[in-house]
Amino acid sequence: MYKLIVGNWKMNGLGPALAEAQAVAAGLAGSLGGSLAGSGVRIGLCPPSTLVERMVRSLAGASVLVGGQDCRAEASGAFTGDISAEMLSEAGAVLVILGHSERRSGYGETDALVAAKVEAALRAGLEPIICVGETLAEREAGRAVAVVSTQVRGSLPQVLAGRAFSVAYEPVWAIGTGLTPTTAQIEEIHAAVRAEMSAVLGASGTRAPILYGGSVKPGNAAEILSADEVGGALVGGASLKSADFLGIIAGAG
Ligand code: PGA
Repeated sequence: MYKLIVGNWKMNGLGPALAEAQAVAAGLAGSLGGSLAGSGVRIGLCPPSTLVERMVRSLAGASVLVGGQDCRAEASGAFTGDISAEMLSEAGAVLVILGHSERRSGYGETDALVAAKVEAALRAGLEPIICVGETLAEREAGRAVAVVSTQVRGSLPQVLAGRAFSVAYEPVWAIGTGLTPTTAQIEEIHAAVRAEMSAVLGASGTRAPILYGGSVKPGNAAEILSADEVGGALVGGASLKSADFLGIIAGAG
């Protein structure tokens, strides 16, 4: 199964940051790309919306997928400040991150809303990356598997069957903190996510990759990426610097 490694720039990046994306593309075109050839590893970057079109243009011909970080469920309308899946697609995006914990906690996004956004992404031809993950309080209460399973069940609409997508397990307490779960903890949750995906979507739920996200760095990427059922990584802070992001990608080799 191919691996998918995606950088989430969050609300970081003005024009000069495109040089980092170009450096990632250059790295993939060099010896790193050679060592990954045939491995089926796919690489993506999700900059702020303002940079999507410019990044697509500046990476023309490179093997880097560009994506958005969120979209509205509706295609158009009176929704000041929002962006639709169609707009991202027109700008050249092929991926979109949905249900990130910063959206779930900061904007009250529910599983049902995330599922509606997933349908919008598919409608526009985008490949959604659907994020789930427990808080520290939920983990300490022994509820991590239950919380994540519920999120998967509620956030994955039936129309995903047969479509390209991924799920990203991102424990909230590991995002931007430098803390990471143990390999056993990651494997426990990824197994639960896989079981839930299969229950909801049948055969196609057995194939889509399950990414891990939360403080992935060059120093821990190889171990995380080789864990059972880890089909890639969603990388925040360490995706802002091309050297770090390329170091993480090297861990997939
Ligand atoms: P981090 O963020 O790598 O900075 O922990 C991951 C994410 O939020 O996707």
